Amino acid sequence: MIKGKPFLTVEQIQTRVRELAESISRDYEGKDILAVGILKGAFMFFADIVRHIQVPMDIDFLIVSSYVRTRSSGEMKIHADLRENVGDRHVLLIEDIVDTGLTLNYIKNMLLDRNPASLRICTFLDKKPRRKIDVHIDYAGYEVPDKYLVGYGLDYENKFRNLPYIAVFKETA
Ligand code: IMP
Ligand code: MG
Repeated sequence: MIKGKPFLTVEQIQTRVRELAESISRDYEGKDILAVGILKGAFMFFADIVRHIQVPMDIDFLIVSSYVRTRSSGEMKIHADLRENVGDRHVLLIEDIVDTGLTLNYIKNMLLDRNPASLRICTFLDKKPRRKIDVHIDYAGYEVPDKYLVGYGLDYENKFRNLPYIAVFKETA
């Protein structure tokens, strides 16, 4: 069940997406980037933001999930790795939400081992109260409280990803 009105409306989402894209376009002026979407969650945000970024780019994707049994160690399963080489590229990681930070921390270290020219992180949502590892976020859309959110790519048991807005999920609403 999804509680009441949207937590973030389509308009709020799209306004912020454009602002983030403007900052990114300014910061990377004169450079080519490799935009890397982290699937599945980031698929909608990725598709929205890349069309507003005004610098040349290649795109690629990573499919990752956390190993349930070793969640606390931040061990991730890579279901599909990048097809592009990262060496000497300006990599921009695009994520839906940063929660504990374990996922991004793992991916960041994995990609830094491949010697990119630079690596920055852009997340649409930043759930700071739940952070376990301090990962530096370069671009964040909205800071959100410790509530379980669905929609705009975010799922509950793989459902609700297709909602165009973001809502608070309540199991017994
Ligand atoms: P982290 O490793 O704890 O930072 O987890 C990040 C991942 O957990 C995100 O990429 C999401 O897939 C998922 N996640 C965290 N919070 C939420 C939420 O509120 N709704 C849906 N998925 C979430
Ligand atoms: Mg995710």
